[in-house]
Amino acid sequence: MKRDSILILLWWVTICSKFEMVLTAEHKIQGACHKLQESMLSSASSFKNYRGILNWCVVMLVLSNARLFLENLLRNGILVDPIQVVSLFLKDPYSWPAACLVIVSNVFILVALYTERKLAMGSISEKVGLLIYIFNLTIILCFPMVVVLKLLSITPVGGAFALGVYTILFLKLYSYKDVNWWCRERTQAKAPSSPKNESAYFDLCFSDIYYFVFAPTLCYELNFPRSESIRMGFLLRRLFEMTYFISNVLSIVFQWMVPIIRSSMKPLQEMDYSRMTERLLRLAVPNHLIWLIFFYWFFHSSMNFVAELLRFGDREFYRDWWNSETITYFWQNWNIPVHKWCLRHFYKPLLRRGAGKLLSQSAVFFASAFFHEYLVSVPLRMFRLWAFMGMMAQLPLAWFVARFLRGNYGNAAVWLSLIIGQPITVLMYVHDYYVTHCQDDPTIAEAL
Ligand SMILES: CC(C)(COP(=O)(O)OP(=O)(O)OC[C@H]1O[C@@H](n2cnc3c(N)ncnc32)[C@H](O)[C@@H]1OP(=O)(O)O)[C@@H](O)C(=O)NCCC(=O)NCCS
Repeated sequence: MKRDSILILLWWVTICSKFEMVLTAEHKIQGACHKLQESMLSSASSFKNYRGILNWCVVMLVLSNARLFLENLLRNGILVDPIQVVSLFLKDPYSWPAACLVIVSNVFILVALYTERKLAMGSISEKVGLLIYIFNLTIILCFPMVVVLKLLSITPVGGAFALGVYTILFLKLYSYKDVNWWCRERTQAKAPSSPKNESAYFDLCFSDIYYFVFAPTLCYELNFPRSESIRMGFLLRRLFEMTYFISNVLSIVFQWMVPIIRSSMKPLQEMDYSRMTERLLRLAVPNHLIWLIFFYWFFHSSMNFVAELLRFGDREFYRDWWNSETITYFWQNWNIPVHKWCLRHFYKPLLRRGAGKLLSQSAVFFASAFFHEYLVSVPLRMFRLWAFMGMMAQLPLAWFVARFLRGNYGNAAVWLSLIIGQPITVLMYVHDYYVTHCQDDPTIAEAL
């Protein structure tokens, strides 16, 4: 009996040890199923891959916009009319005043070129050269303004296009003047007794200045970096994008924005705040879409197209402004050609002359606000200062965001200022334009 119980005990011990061995082996194979760890969505976990969520956002965006698109089509029918698109640019198909204005701008380019030639040869003094430049640059801004204000056959869009070309020319010729002057100063500093720079005379030729005029930059240089060849595939892709995106913008304007703007006039006239806010938020979506498409169309497709065609090497037309956590970062990165010009020809010269940082920044934003207002008010033939104030408001906004908001909150504030700030200005101008110019228009009266 005793022997039996010993045998049973031994058998039990053997079974237990075998079971433990099996458990240990299984443990070794599978590992422990729990460990100290945070949930993925908790900020303490180092998990950062949200690609799936981004895709979900895109799917939701496409679905909700498809619904909006269908609803818009069912309610309004097709509103995009090619004749209306052409009439945005031309009142009379046989009269092209905006195009004529652009052709006349060649006169100012030639004045700048001949002034520089005379300065390089020493035929005129620096003072006389400066006076000619001041005159030339002032006329560049005033002449198209007077024409657009007086010539009623120019449409607002045609006027804005012509003024845009003249503004770009103003900034380019200002840079041309500065760089040539810096070059003359450097040559004179190196060899003060040397005769006037004859070789510079040969640099100052038509092809050089016209290359700069057409190049996608506002800052002149004697030797621009050049790419080796024109890539046909790249060029055709950009051309396709340009036509595709511009037609997208026109469709959104006619099909989506115009109906909302028309239906906003009554609440605006009656100062019905709740309906005004609702219309503003409705307008914010197509307005923002247009702005984003415009950004890609202009800064990526069009500028790269022109750069490729001219083998212009520096393709940094924008940086990652979409990650801006401050307003300052946004203005440093969204429009690189203008930002570079501001730094090189306005901001740094002001700092070098002893102006403070805040004063210099305010001066740059003041000049930018002036040009924004110039490009909107003159073609619309009414002066309301909404664009000017919108630009000047960037300074206190930049201070507020930098002072109180950080990281993602700062980024959200930048997006919000873009999404909401612009449609406020658009609504203000459109309202004022309709009140001053088209109140008796039967189609608008019908919409009201
Ligand atoms: C005003 C503006 C030019 C300021 O630019 P910023 O980059 O914030 O200016 P910062 O003070 O950071 O300095 C910029 C440069 O000046 C230099 N700088 C700063 N203080 C200086 C001083 N006291 N002396 C000399 N240089 C100085 C910096 O070193 C820096 O040089 P870097 O570019 O070689 O690095 C910019 O906000 C701007 O471009 N605003 C207008 C944008 C606009 O209207 N765009 C229109 C788009 S539609």
